[in-house]
Amino acid sequence: MLPQPSIPGQTPLDDLSGLRVRWIQTTAQLNAAEAENIRKATLKYLLAKPTNRSARFDISWMKRLHQEMFGDVWTWAGELRMNETNIGSAARQVEIDLHNLIGDLRAWESSQMPILEQAVRIHHAAVKIHPFQNGNGRWSRMLANIWLLLHDTPLIEWPEVTIGTSSAIRSDYLAAVRAADCGDFVRLIALHAQFSRPQ
Ligand SMILES: Nc1ncnc2c1ncn2[C@@H]1O[C@H](COP(=O)(O)OP(=O)(O)OP(=O)(O)O)[C@@H](O)[C@H]1O
Ligand SMILES: [Mg+2]
Repeated sequence: MLPQPSIPGQTPLDDLSGLRVRWIQTTAQLNAAEAENIRKATLKYLLAKPTNRSARFDISWMKRLHQEMFGDVWTWAGELRMNETNIGSAARQVEIDLHNLIGDLRAWESSQMPILEQAVRIHHAAVKIHPFQNGNGRWSRMLANIWLLLHDTPLIEWPEVTIGTSSAIRSDYLAAVRAADCGDFVRLIALHAQFSRPQ
């Protein structure tokens, strides 16, 4: 069993039975394997503008994106979780909440809401639902970036190394996510703007 460091706001990963990569023995090796897997998905979706067909923003594509980000490492990648987690919708509610998010998304898209705010709301709603066993934060930040690129808006360059581990940036990020849980998106929008890549 890998030792799991306790990082605030993380889904605890105590079930490692779905690990595909048998040689992984440390958390650093796991992080590196996941990062390499995610790098491939990043190249696919963020190197050039995706199309509405390659990034469909429906449930099956959202699941596939998670599979593409984590499927080399975890057998359960891309599968909606069946168990309850410390954060997130009740397991039986996950699919319904994803449907509602997609409905909201289409309404935001045809409203006057700035694209950055749309991306922030996708990110927040997706991570709040927590559809997967793990990787929900990285997947939801990727969803937001794909939405930005689809709408010709600068990407967010998250400092993944610091945001994924205990750090001042992670504390700010979690505080902003929790404020958004209460309907206040100002801090989370400001944080996205802070890491927005200049064009
Ligand atoms: N109160 C909360 N409400 C909504 N989302 C939360 C809350 N607390 C934590 N989160 C989100 O859950 C994410 C962690 O979930 P999970 O461990 O599945 O994702 P990850 O990709 O492995 O981690 P990380 O986002 O740290 O890289 C955090 O990044 C954060 O965005
Ligand atoms: Mg995690």
